[in-house]
Amino acid sequence: MARRQGWQVTGVDFSPAGLDKARRLAADHDVDVEWVEADVTAYQPSETFDLVLVAYLQLSTPQRVEVLRRAAGWVAPGGTMLVVAHDRSNVTEGHGGPPSPEVCYDVDETVAALEGLTPSVAEVARRPVQTDEGERVALDTVVVATRRS
Ligand SMILES: C[S@@+](CC[C@H](N)C(=O)[O-])C[C@H]1O[C@@H](n2cnc3c(N)ncnc32)[C@H](O)[C@@H]1O
Repeated sequence: MARRQGWQVTGVDFSPAGLDKARRLAADHDVDVEWVEADVTAYQPSETFDLVLVAYLQLSTPQRVEVLRRAAGWVAPGGTMLVVAHDRSNVTEGHGGPPSPEVCYDVDETVAALEGLTPSVAEVARRPVQTDEGERVALDTVVVATRRS
């Protein structure tokens, strides 16, 4: 099966329904992904990766910081970590997303959790969302950080 952009991908989620949707999307795009059903608060891969992506993962603050800290350790030398998730400011100033600030991200907190990585992007990004009432803006924490080789 084709591997878009040449990446070999492992995807982790603890929801069977979420993984079913991910499998459908992967098949639609003709990409081969190894899916792992696991709780990321306990998951530990046996290898490191050129790219680790944490996308819209909602956890309480202590769990979030600990998962980010451990996930930073999964980045191979020369590799990159990308975190994109609902920013805490989205609760009061943005569209959609969870109503609880507890499960939202903060740029400085995220950078601090990524021990051993050097950030190149650390910002609140404005993401346009199309709604029935017109375009709205969602606010995301976006952090890109690399491990020096
Ligand atoms: C908002 S969805 C985002 C899904 C996908 N990452 C994306 O960006 O489209 C949050 C996902 O995190 C998963 N999740 C939440 N807590 C988790 C945990 N402790 N371990 C693994 N997956 C978790 C949920 O099952 C859900 O699929």
